[in-house]
Amino acid sequence: MAIDTTAPAASSPVTHELRGKVLLITVDNPPVNALSVDVRRGLAAAIEHAEANPAVQAVLIVGAGRNFIAGADIREFGKPPQPPALPDVLHRMETSHKPVIAAIHGAALGGGLEVALAAHYRLAVAGAKLGLPEVNLGLLPGAGGTQRTPRLIGAEAALSLMLSGRHVGAQEALKLGLVDRVGASDDVLAEGLAYAQELLANQSSAHPHVRRTRDAQGMADRAAAQAAIDAARAETAKKSRGLFSPLKIVDCVQAALDESFEEGLRFERKQFLACLESPQRAGLVHAFFAEREVQKAPETKSAAPRAIDTVGVIGGGTMGAGIAVAVLDAGLPVTMIERDEAALARGRAHVEKVYDGLIAKGRMKPEAKAPILARFNGSTSYDALASADLVIEAVFEDMAVKQAVFAELDRVCKPGAVLATNTSYLDIDAIAASIKRAQDVVGLHFFSPANIMKLLEVVVPKAVSADVVATAFELAKKLRKVPVRAGVCDGFIGNRMLAVYRTAADHLMEDGASPYQIDQAVREFGFPMGPYQVVDLAGGDIGWATRKRRAATRDPKARYVQIADRLCERGWFGQKTGRGFYLYPEGARAGTPDPEVEVIIAAERERAGITPRTFTNEEIIRRYMAAMINEGANVVHEKIALRPLDVDVTLMYGYGFPRYRGGPMKYADSVGLANVLADIREFAKEDPLFWRPSPLIVELVERGADFASLNQAA
Ligand code: 3HC
Ligand code: NAI
Repeated sequence: MAIDTTAPAASSPVTHELRGKVLLITVDNPPVNALSVDVRRGLAAAIEHAEANPAVQAVLIVGAGRNFIAGADIREFGKPPQPPALPDVLHRMETSHKPVIAAIHGAALGGGLEVALAAHYRLAVAGAKLGLPEVNLGLLPGAGGTQRTPRLIGAEAALSLMLSGRHVGAQEALKLGLVDRVGASDDVLAEGLAYAQELLANQSSAHPHVRRTRDAQGMADRAAAQAAIDAARAETAKKSRGLFSPLKIVDCVQAALDESFEEGLRFERKQFLACLESPQRAGLVHAFFAEREVQKAPETKSAAPRAIDTVGVIGGGTMGAGIAVAVLDAGLPVTMIERDEAALARGRAHVEKVYDGLIAKGRMKPEAKAPILARFNGSTSYDALASADLVIEAVFEDMAVKQAVFAELDRVCKPGAVLATNTSYLDIDAIAASIKRAQDVVGLHFFSPANIMKLLEVVVPKAVSADVVATAFELAKKLRKVPVRAGVCDGFIGNRMLAVYRTAADHLMEDGASPYQIDQAVREFGFPMGPYQVVDLAGGDIGWATRKRRAATRDPKARYVQIADRLCERGWFGQKTGRGFYLYPEGARAGTPDPEVEVIIAAERERAGITPRTFTNEEIIRRYMAAMINEGANVVHEKIALRPLDVDVTLMYGYGFPRYRGGPMKYADSVGLANVLADIREFAKEDPLFWRPSPLIVELVERGADFASLNQAA
């Protein structure tokens, strides 16, 4: 096969040296040994060298640093391809006449595992993480992975790896047949060399050294393989709604079963390139980098975090209990404060209920609960917080109540304790200003259920010191949350945007779309639920209370849709009351449309003097998204969010925005900001007060720029 053997760069990330009869090839491309063009060239050249050099009898490939190879270089996607292509390099490796051994430590992911699969023998040491996570980037294994993996470990196991993207450890990899042995020590180099020497020592014609994965018989039972493919196809069609690459993965495994290896590779390549060009790949790769970028807030670079070894949580309601579980799960001790013994008992019961649920579902062993709860203490006295390093307040959403709580914290907490509030909307500057240590006060806005939802808005008030913000980011890491830095305003990033796009949905509803059609359009776009399903799940009374609180300050000229109020006046708060926008007969979790709600909506339209019109689902989404994008732009413009990508991460991790679209700002770039602006201006003809183009969008369109340019500049 013709292969580009352009000489590797002078300082190639791939080096080779002879260790006895073994050519040791080391991939050293920090941070994760991704397969950049120079690595591919270096690998190709090293293999050529091994073939040509008679002193070499075997080849050992290892990775330098903490990983074997983490896969293709994701930063190269979307740029013009540079030879040699990885499949060609791997073909050359697999057809080498000298045995090639891959010794794996750390990550062998995606293209990294594909390198190992093209080797003839594989060894892993403890701590190795093997996987084919391409699906998470909108891709499929594109360097032979879809063809070699099922041949090696069978169609069922291969499909499960490729469709889930999960990582497996060394022992599981051994059990699956993905590796041939697990090293006795974690010294990957010593283990690899020993393995290579052992293979050479055992050399005999009965034990051929060159054993190619392409010839493996993992799909010898064709009927079983076909059944696994059929099952995966049915499951994928159901589960991976809207996603482009999963079904293609199934198609590739079908080709692995039906076609020759070469044909299969050609088919895989075609599918891989189709995925590479898909907007979903662009969205998912944006999400990958964005969720890493958000962790790098300026304060994390300028200040060292304070130590957090003990945590207090005030309030044992929905959020307090969830936050307590999140902290317990991170291995830290928690002291919960409640108003009285009865409330404390309820708080403790909420916490226990989470673990009991996990046990019931078989996700936790019953004996694991007691040691966790041993780290949980409760008290009705604030004095129990005297030694806490961090206190998170989650009491009622009421400024007076919160300020009273913070006055107590000011009294009892040790100097340097971080004092956090989980408020959804309240002015954290005002909370901070009410005590003597404003520099220690920060917002930690968790999402419900707090032990599950990944997003954590770190809300940064004016007076807070940088090390407190750095501490919040460090805590997020410990809790395995995705932190987004937000400024203080009504609703911070996420809830502020939610209020606006929810209002756009209400306008659509009053103008003629049913809540059921709106929910359906939003689901079709890729959200797991529509806005009215979310209201019913969260409880309509929460929004109702907020609306009543804000009634006095609402702009009297602003359009106000009263439909939700009419439902709440009837006590229809959603799932918990058996009806809201939907009906939930006998505690059903999925609602059914309610004709009575439609009657109420019709009456409201009449009261407001509106002649209903029809909307297509596409028209619904254009308005919904334009409202979301416009407010996202305002949030960036006012520096509430650092960059558009922070808005994207917030919406993806806290509000169900489909990850494969990369968040609302990435989506705006993909449809074209000028188009979004044209839509907003069109809608403004009917309601100029609501549809005011964000100055940031106007400016970017004038400059011919996009949101992505702001991500890079920041
Ligand atoms: N390409 C380019 N950069 C990568 C990368 C990759 N494949 N994987 C990680 N990086 C970068 C990250 O962006 C980050 O950069 P930064 O420091 O500038 O922010 C840095 O490496 C460290 O990454 P993490 O912060 O994620 O480090 P961790 O130690 O937490 O995790 C990891 C390491 C498990 C390897 C994780 O980075 C990871 O899962 N990477 C992606 C793996 C992957 O998806 N591989 C498949 C790629 S697609 C492919 O291979 C196609 C093939 O089939 C042809
Ligand atoms: P909740 O009503 O379920 O719980 C509040 C708890 O605080 C109650 O158990 C109450 O007894 C306790 N409490 C009240 N005053 C107290 C005091 N002075 N000292 C000790 N305990 C006291 O409320 P929820 O939903 O948990 O909300 C709490 C906070 O979290 C609010 O600020 C809310 O805005 C915010 N939040 C709520 C979210 C949600 O989805 N419910 C999401 C994110 C934030």
